[in-house]
Amino acid sequence: MKVLIAGATGVLGPPTVRLLLAKGHEVIALFRSERSERLLKSLGAQPVKADVLDAAGLIRLAQSTARGVEAVLNLATVIPRDATVPGAWLPNDKVRVEGTRNLIDVARKAGATRLVQQSITRIYRDNGDAWIDESAPLATKQPVHLDSTIKMESLVQAVQDLQTVILRGGQFYGAGTFSTEALFDKARSGTLRLDGDGSHFISPIQTEDMAQAVVLALTVPADTGILNVVDDKPLTQRDFFASVAALANPNCKLVAGDSAVHMPSRRCSNKKIKAMGFAPKYPSHKEGLEDAYARQK
Ligand SMILES: NC(=O)c1ccc[n+]([C@@H]2O[C@H](COP(=O)([O-])OP(=O)(O)OC[C@H]3O[C@@H](n4cnc5c(N)ncnc54)[C@H](OP(=O)(O)O)[C@@H]3O)[C@@H](O)[C@H]2O)c1
Repeated sequence: MKVLIAGATGVLGPPTVRLLLAKGHEVIALFRSERSERLLKSLGAQPVKADVLDAAGLIRLAQSTARGVEAVLNLATVIPRDATVPGAWLPNDKVRVEGTRNLIDVARKAGATRLVQQSITRIYRDNGDAWIDESAPLATKQPVHLDSTIKMESLVQAVQDLQTVILRGGQFYGAGTFSTEALFDKARSGTLRLDGDGSHFISPIQTEDMAQAVVLALTVPADTGILNVVDDKPLTQRDFFASVAALANPNCKLVAGDSAVHMPSRRCSNKKIKAMGFAPKYPSHKEGLEDAYARQK
């Protein structure tokens, strides 16, 4: 299949491109910087210079290199380095809403039949210890920066003339990811700090397993809609951090966070995607963290 991918240079992009190519797909991938172009070439994708916010440029792309793509994969996002800076999330809001609108247009103009949209499980409402499937309610009171993700999903769900699949990914972790290596570093320095008391559920997903789900989304039934992409064993943040500490520094004591902070708890189920053939290589954080620890840079 010939596919166009936005966001191929981030954390999730490279394992996704590798897997797409290994399965024989032809991959056209957007880049903005020379560094990203080099990365895409090294992966074996066909790089095309384009910004998801440049509607006119994307239309030209749809009428040239991307003509005839069968699917568009939207993994683009802009997570701020320092979320405390005022307006830090605005670029992400633009990419989520304007960027998604533009890529829907590209998919149509290029002649694609399917759009795969990456999203996040963080938009679900706090559900305590109870399981969350794809029909669970979304949060109504949430950090304002998540509004654009909900808007993005609504834009995709409103599309009638393309098959759309929304992948709500859990918390990314894995070998070579900055966030996981930062946790190992904190354990080594004895500064692994929980959010609140760490009793809230998190639903991890190793990044190569997330990539597997993106590729699977190309072939799931047309009426699939939304899929949670998480591993088999969601757990509390405290248990996850305890596993990090056990690997990196068994003497590390977990530091409790502000006891007044109540963190939303999201114990997400992967039952729906597993019924469609998803088989995580890292079914729980234990296997994934051991692998990440062994492959540290
Ligand atoms: N990280 C997590 O824990 C997590 C969890 C669940 C779901 N997700 C979702 O998974 C997806 C990928 O996340 P990630 O962690 O891989 O992100 P990331 O590492 O921050 O990468 C972001 C990607 O988006 C691209 N991008 C940003 N702005 C763009 C623009 N204006 N035009 C074209 N491309 C643009 C970047 O390309 P350049 O090289 O051009 O900058 C880069 O390839 C996102 O949708 C994210 O919300 C993440």
